[in-house]
Amino acid sequence: ETTSDDGGETEEAGDELISIGFSQVGAESGWRAANTKSIQDTLTADNGFDLSFSDAQQKQENQIQAIRSYIAQGVDVISFSPVVETGWGPVLEEAKAADIPVILTDRAVDTEDDTLYESFIGSDFVLEGEMAGEWAVEQYDGEGYQMVELQGTTGSAPAIDRKEGFADAIAGSDIEVIDSQTGNFTRTEGKQVMEGFLQKYDEIDLVFAHNDDMGLGAIEAIEAAGMTPGEDIKIITIDAVKDGMQALADGKINYIVECNPLLGPDLAEVAQKVVAGEEVEKRIVVEDKTFDQEAAVEALPSREY
Ligand code: AHR
Repeated sequence: ETTSDDGGETEEAGDELISIGFSQVGAESGWRAANTKSIQDTLTADNGFDLSFSDAQQKQENQIQAIRSYIAQGVDVISFSPVVETGWGPVLEEAKAADIPVILTDRAVDTEDDTLYESFIGSDFVLEGEMAGEWAVEQYDGEGYQMVELQGTTGSAPAIDRKEGFADAIAGSDIEVIDSQTGNFTRTEGKQVMEGFLQKYDEIDLVFAHNDDMGLGAIEAIEAAGMTPGEDIKIITIDAVKDGMQALADGKINYIVECNPLLGPDLAEVAQKVVAGEEVEKRIVVEDKTFDQEAAVEALPSREY
């Protein structure tokens, strides 16, 4: 589904709106909802943009189709958050051949040829995984903890990088990863996978979920099994969206590494510069914080998303 502003309006007489086609991953998580809102709230006619927005429902073929339709429309800029890392070469070549600049947001593509996009704006997912793992080691090393991992979407940059960062950080500790499966970044699948783990293993001490939503699903599964999340089974997640932060404040999650979803303003700035022919940075790293229970209680009242 593709929606578009009516366009044609001008910020000031004589200014042309920048037409931008944005292909979003989907609506799989609270993080994604906040990210979509940031993009739609920023790329408005008042700010000089004519936004065409499409939701790929977590399917790469839908994203490729959306990008091809933006190329056919001849938009000024294409932006997307790639659902998986690989397989983008041909469609990015098509955009390049049509002289349409591409800006990646949130997730990276795996390509040797960095002339296929102008800039990549987003968090350092390896670092997020490392920060989560370092905290786990600080708190739990020496306890002989058995850990399960709820991975994000298979083949996606955040799932690959967070897994790697966490594994590096816990290497050398006595935390043992006894299982790791994808919950596709959704609450429903996080719950299902956790139910399976609870049936399969007698002892689980720690869950590392690649996002808050899967962690929240795991909480439901743990409570349904008669245990207390955050106490009987510790939980570490990534994102720091409101529902996750509330669970952290309530003691059901033990630690959260933030992934900042508010990428709209950076995207607007980079798109304006690219259209004006100005130079832009190839990689713009978004800074992330970390939260324990006390920090969550403090941050919640003013949390934007
Ligand atoms: O790419 C960012 C990840 O995608 C977020 O951590 C997750 O919640 C979302 O679905």
